[in-house]
Amino acid sequence: MSEQLAPTKAVTAAPFQIPNQSELTLFAPDLQLLESNHVVGFNSRHLSSRPFSLLRSQLVKRMKARGHQLVGVTSPAPGAGKSFLTANLAATLSRLPNHFIHVFDLDVRRASLAANFGLMGEVGLERFLSGETDDLKRIGRHVEGTNLALYPCYSSDYETMPLLASDRFAAFIASLRTLPSDHLILFDMPPVFANDDAMVVASQIDAYLMVIEQGRNSQKQVMDAIRLLDPSECIGSVLNRYDGGVGDPYGYNYGAYGKYTDYFSKGD
Ligand SMILES: Nc1ncnc2c1ncn2[C@@H]1O[C@H](COP(=O)(O)OP(=O)(O)O)[C@@H](O)[C@H]1O
Ligand SMILES: [Mg+2]
Repeated sequence: MSEQLAPTKAVTAAPFQIPNQSELTLFAPDLQLLESNHVVGFNSRHLSSRPFSLLRSQLVKRMKARGHQLVGVTSPAPGAGKSFLTANLAATLSRLPNHFIHVFDLDVRRASLAANFGLMGEVGLERFLSGETDDLKRIGRHVEGTNLALYPCYSSDYETMPLLASDRFAAFIASLRTLPSDHLILFDMPPVFANDDAMVVASQIDAYLMVIEQGRNSQKQVMDAIRLLDPSECIGSVLNRYDGGVGDPYGYNYGAYGKYTDYFSKGD
């Protein structure tokens, strides 16, 4: 089944214009909202941002060594912390000088990039993927004072397989590949076990990071997820652990990021 659904990488047409950040509407996030959504990566002095800085260094080193530009973040099941990691990684990457970071929310059904950053709008990435608009300038937002561009989704009211397993999506990826090498592209991906969406996305991009939820994802689940995405490259895995704090639905209490560790499954 997977072979039938996954499109090939053979598409070369790159018809879409990927906007420069200066062409996008500026967006100034509410710092309190970011903090309450656990997005701390913009602030290098925030104690909780340290693990993300470390992860950033490892990831960038590895991406450069392999000539990768397009990396997704996925997990076996929903709720593992993909969007949390994507948002923080994006924020911490945006502090790198001489780099441009583009983040696309491809978890259309459970999109949360907009909510995490406090973005509000009507034209989301789902409208581009569906072909309702070709103009990515209508969708992207440039985070003020950073090198970060965000492309959120606003409506989950779409059948996602036709959006992702399409020539249009392949052409979009081909367009992203025309960006210079100082541009890094992150995708908040769908979870692997939900349906075939993650597989389709992984087959088009350079590599993915696997987020593992400590205590909830068994080793078998992780290996099964990686196997399902095969032959796409797992560039690393990230162990996300909650602390089980009282009064928080996610078991989060402040300092829980300290329990957020990263490890790379493959040697350098
Ligand atoms: N290490 C963590 N510490 C605190 N909160 C976390 C952590 N990881 C995830 N969360 C929170 O858990 C919720 C689910 O995470 P999310 O990233 O949205 O999952 P996914 O995108 O994988 O479905 C979000 O509210 C997120 O902010
Ligand atoms: Mg998510």
